[in-house]
Amino acid sequence: MPLVNAKEMLTKAKAGHYAVGQFNINNLEWTKSILLTAQEMNSPVILGVSEGAGKYMCGYKTVVGMVEGMLEGLNITVPVALHLDHGSYEGAKACIEAGFSSIMFDGSHYPIDENIEKTKELVAICEEKGLSIEAEVGSIGGEEDGVVGAGECADPNECKMIADLGVTMLAAGIGNIHGKYPENWAGLSFETLAAVQEKTGTMPLVLHGGTGIPADMIQKAISLGVSKINVNTECQLAFQEATRKYIEAGKDLEGKGFDPRKLLAPGAEAIKACVKEKIELFGSANKA
Ligand code: 13P
Repeated sequence: MPLVNAKEMLTKAKAGHYAVGQFNINNLEWTKSILLTAQEMNSPVILGVSEGAGKYMCGYKTVVGMVEGMLEGLNITVPVALHLDHGSYEGAKACIEAGFSSIMFDGSHYPIDENIEKTKELVAICEEKGLSIEAEVGSIGGEEDGVVGAGECADPNECKMIADLGVTMLAAGIGNIHGKYPENWAGLSFETLAAVQEKTGTMPLVLHGGTGIPADMIQKAISLGVSKINVNTECQLAFQEATRKYIEAGKDLEGKGFDPRKLLAPGAEAIKACVKEKIELFGSANKA
């Protein structure tokens, strides 16, 4: 199946009270593990690409080529969206040009008027080309690929202003943080989430920083309108841990001892396990 935008999968998720996972990709192994797991679980999936990861993978065109090749080569039949994660204005335009099916324009660091103006322009381009678009209000805490956000709760009125521009989905800061949550984390602000949803009607809401949020909070967030949940760090940690164990056990030196396919295999399996667990938790299995 060719790439699809995220609109239909999120509309269905919203109506069915579950969430679609966005899993960030960094290389071929990452992408393959996520696609195979989504297919096995019969779940729609969103592949997230940060600007840094896009650069690492030799640019957005390479990413599009790799993902499209895999959809065909692995016989992937579940809906897959290729989505720019936390894109700049320029990055968003470059991804549209390269063939992504979905973009996020993160204008949360601009004054609200400028965020509105730039989002509006990108909404018009995405509409014309049949892409989905995510916007952000209220920065997500922690560090994401060099972008550091202070972590704040979004203003529900500003969320409405952005939602009314015709975006497909909206990321609203509700105390969530990228990366590991600190011991003294106050938890998600469900009050803010409910207020944002009330102002934005049926707009699918996006929860960033999906790593380490307790299962009961995830379920409550979904019940209050979250239809897409982003996960990155948890896959990175799983990959790192599995690779470290493999090397510490001296397995990378066995046999010929120079086979990168063997070296990366435990990490790839660990990512599959991580994605499977999240798809189960988010409730998107058998929803393709
Ligand atoms: P985590 O790295 O905390 O899982 O967050 C991922 C994310 O929100 C990507 O946009």
